[in-house]
Amino acid sequence: MSDTLAAPQVLRNDFDVEAVRAQFPGLQQEVNGRPLVYLDTAASAQKPQRVIDRLAAFYAHDYANIHRGVYDLSQRASDAHDAARETVRRFLNAAEAKSCIFVRNGTEAMNLVAESFVADRLGPGDAVLITGMEHHANVVPWLRLRERKGIALKVAPLTDDGALDLDAFTALLNEPDTKFVGVSWVSNALGTVNPVKEIVRRAHERGVPVMVDACQAAQHIAIDVQDLDCDFLAFSGHKVYGPSGVGVLYGKIAHLEAMPPYQTGGDMILSVSYDEVVWNELPYKFEAGTPDIAGAVGLGEAIDFLTELGIEDVARHEAEVMAYALERLAEVPGLHMVGNAPERCSVLSFVVDGAHPHDIGTLLDLDGIAIRAGFHCAQPTIEAMGHPGTVRASIGLYTTKGDIDRLVDSLKRVAAMFA
Ligand code: ALA
Repeated sequence: MSDTLAAPQVLRNDFDVEAVRAQFPGLQQEVNGRPLVYLDTAASAQKPQRVIDRLAAFYAHDYANIHRGVYDLSQRASDAHDAARETVRRFLNAAEAKSCIFVRNGTEAMNLVAESFVADRLGPGDAVLITGMEHHANVVPWLRLRERKGIALKVAPLTDDGALDLDAFTALLNEPDTKFVGVSWVSNALGTVNPVKEIVRRAHERGVPVMVDACQAAQHIAIDVQDLDCDFLAFSGHKVYGPSGVGVLYGKIAHLEAMPPYQTGGDMILSVSYDEVVWNELPYKFEAGTPDIAGAVGLGEAIDFLTELGIEDVARHEAEVMAYALERLAEVPGLHMVGNAPERCSVLSFVVDGAHPHDIGTLLDLDGIAIRAGFHCAQPTIEAMGHPGTVRASIGLYTTKGDIDRLVDSLKRVAAMFA
């Protein structure tokens, strides 16, 4: 894989979106008689052929269980799994591969932190602070801890345009009972980009650990966990053009060493008797049972794909499409953006006067356009913005201005129907 992320940034203008699209078989199809326009990458990204090929080749030639076999095939499978972890380490610029835990998805990563880090350390009189733009994976685990452990949950408010009210956040952070922060880097519902490095800095001034939810950021923004200095960071494979069913939790080694296992069973132990269990070392302590071996290998391939394209180039392309989309969506009568933060990427959430988002989603589908409608796994956020749901069009590295033109044409017809 290339070291694009670690190398000094070189601005290139050779991002060829048509050549990129050609690598995605899922995009080369018609839906309801029209060429597919896929604008639901925030829910899950389409997969490039090389990821599909890597999965097939791994299953066909190198597959066996890992860390268990003394035979060649198992060794090969273990080596491929280890190589994928090293790829993740480079992607995050983590100092050590053992700080990168393979999990099922970002949701599992955040549940792991809630259960193994927060649940035993905090109790009644302590609080976890999140923002008003978290998706359910960074809300529901805390609600459960509130119920089970009496740990309070504080939610920092948003401004009217869907940005984080940083002053209000800081005031809540400075309250003495605030003992942990969980914050999304990019809101999956509004596209708002949060100043996570500054948030980590402010939290650490008070000795408060921070978990960054990078599920909607990892595919758009270069990550450097050492520079961020976050305590934990979570992302999902399926949103970075990799397989579903695999994700990553990064954690600082000192935290991970001190934490009890999240799940127990095979592979996370060094020895077991009926009297005593000795936990395995990192990262295996947190990887109980046979993992999604091929999923991790496929994720490594997806990260290679993304980093070889150059994440800065990807981001620049997406920003260009986003700016074009904002300009063109303004032509649709009765369309109102939900969330207009100055710093935003990849997500366009909106409503159209008189039309329910689900009806819009169904009508767009008839035109071969895939968007998400509803709460986008962030019900409190969308409700706080004053809507019973929005339409969400999300941009990926393969999105073109032509996709946006198709969206706008369809939306104009839909808006006219409900006017
Ligand atoms: N959290 C995913 C989304 O944004 C599923 O739609």
